[in-house]
Amino acid sequence: MTYRRLKHSSRNLVDQLSNLKFFNSSRSSISAGLQSRSIQTFELVKEDVCYHKHIVSRHICFLKGSGIGIPASLRGVQSNAFRIHSRNLASVATVPSRNPSFAMISCDDISYFKKILGEKGVVQEELKLDDANTDWMRKYKGSSKLMLQPRSTHEVSEILNYCNSRCLAVVPQGGNTGLVGGSVPVHDEVIISVSSMNNIISFDKVSGILVCEAGCILENLITFLDNEGYIMPLDLGAKGSCQIGGNVSTNAGGLRLIRYGSLHGSVLGLEVVLANGTVLDMLGTLRKDNTGYDLKHLFIGSEGSLGIVTKVSILTPPKLSSVNLAFLACEDYVSCQKLLSEAKRKLGEILSAFEFLDVSAMDLVLKHLDGIRDPLPSSKHNFYIVIETTGSMESHDKEKLEAFLLSSMESGLLTDGVIAQDINQASSFWRIREGIPEALMKAGAVYKYDLSLPPEKMYDVVDEMRERLGTAANVVAYGHLGDGNLHLNISAREYDDSILSQIEPFVYEWTSKQRGSISAEHGLGLMKANKIHYSKSAETVQLMGAMKKLLDPNGILNPYKVLPTSISQSGVN
Ligand code: FAD
Ligand code: MLT
Ligand code: ZN
Repeated sequence: MTYRRLKHSSRNLVDQLSNLKFFNSSRSSISAGLQSRSIQTFELVKEDVCYHKHIVSRHICFLKGSGIGIPASLRGVQSNAFRIHSRNLASVATVPSRNPSFAMISCDDISYFKKILGEKGVVQEELKLDDANTDWMRKYKGSSKLMLQPRSTHEVSEILNYCNSRCLAVVPQGGNTGLVGGSVPVHDEVIISVSSMNNIISFDKVSGILVCEAGCILENLITFLDNEGYIMPLDLGAKGSCQIGGNVSTNAGGLRLIRYGSLHGSVLGLEVVLANGTVLDMLGTLRKDNTGYDLKHLFIGSEGSLGIVTKVSILTPPKLSSVNLAFLACEDYVSCQKLLSEAKRKLGEILSAFEFLDVSAMDLVLKHLDGIRDPLPSSKHNFYIVIETTGSMESHDKEKLEAFLLSSMESGLLTDGVIAQDINQASSFWRIREGIPEALMKAGAVYKYDLSLPPEKMYDVVDEMRERLGTAANVVAYGHLGDGNLHLNISAREYDDSILSQIEPFVYEWTSKQRGSISAEHGLGLMKANKIHYSKSAETVQLMGAMKKLLDPNGILNPYKVLPTSISQSGVN
């Protein structure tokens, strides 16, 4: 690494900045960006600039290199990285007892399924079942003896119709990357995996509307759209494994929500199969359609408890040519907050991600993930921010980002920072942010909370949690600050009831007091089915129960999840 000392006023720094090249997200130049580059850093040293009144009082470093693009695939971890085969952590999940009204699988059932799906679509091999029974965190484990792999909506309909008539419980499964124990059986539920339903049905190059089957892996859709000059409106670290049907069913948020909004906005239509096999064709491709109740919204975020999503129609934004990424440091949480409001004001329409991680998250990534380098190695910082801008005019975007960074330095909000100058740097910055869940898994047991809170209150719960736990566990915070979404993780060597009792119900009560949500984006699954009242009123939960009963009277769809069992199982015979 080369450092060059600069003795300049802020005017000089502006000049210096305007000479820097930004990396540019042109997907056609993906392969060009793959060679590794040495990183040059320009450092503006604090003492050198202090004598000027209105110049930067802190220093910022900029990585320098040539402008090349970043492929979606390099921003995330690949599918295999999600599978942690070597660990088996004891579960701390409280398991509700099996509902005796559900039937047990019989030989006749297996024969029936084989008739519909053929031998290949009926999975009974132990190894495959072991994978499908275990969640990504290896915290929840079911004991299903059967996984069905339909290849069409018609097959899904036939399976569900049969399961409903036999009162066989089922769990819909996508990429099995869910983090709340929703995607795996609790007992012996039949796993219905839509992985084989992975065709792209149509793409309209003018409107950007994509219609595809639910089993399409998010990353494959990203790659497909890239060739068409479009992007997916959502992006998350699990993109290599998660499926669009799973994304819709969890209403996944991710890294781009700040720019493109939630799936309630971008999903235009769905095809869903109800518990009794009825196929609901709501697969519209219209931006506007006010004919009656918009029922697709019921299924977005319903975590497989109301129906199986088989097809999705989604509005995709055009791929823009100029993408910039900055990795920045702040000394305190208040500065992170102020930086966010400044970024919204000053970057405006080009802001496409605003993510944060605290020093504990950074330390964890540096310790547990291979090949990770601290982009700001000169000193430790309390908070790190990843800001992405996406726009259509390179010079304009660059000017905006530079002006924003300069004013943030001058006002003392930023203490350090780097701007990625090529695809490798950009992907290494994303790897730090997106690698945190994987690093946490490598560190041992994880108690994972996903809270929506007013941004000004967000870090208070982290501080309070640290105080409560002392040295018993490592409290790690990161998340989608731009969306008011905190990922509060407590990392310990192993699961321990005494640690859990320090965390819960405190974390839920605290969130409820702030009128926050105990699940911002991961859903309730099994983990929080009985905690819904912390975020929803009794009347609301009752109405949810009534809807569940209407759509799934036998309660066969993903039982024990989402709603408290007292509600979802009442009246089930
Ligand atoms: P699964 O895990 O298989 O299932 C999730 C739920 O949806 C289950 O309740 C299941 O029953 C149901 N389901 C799945 N497919 C269907 C279907 N076709 N029809 C009906 N129900 C179905 N989440 C975020 O929101 N933002 C993030 O940034 C994010 N980052 C992550 C990073 C990592 C490393 C990991 C491991 C997870 C992350 N997640 C994130 C959580 C997870 O990836 C998302 O919830 C994702 O949307 C789940 O998709 P999936 O296909 O894996 O679904
Ligand atoms: C993330 O933002 O990294 C995901 O939601 C996963 C997590 O919370 O660990
Ligand atoms: Zn997240």
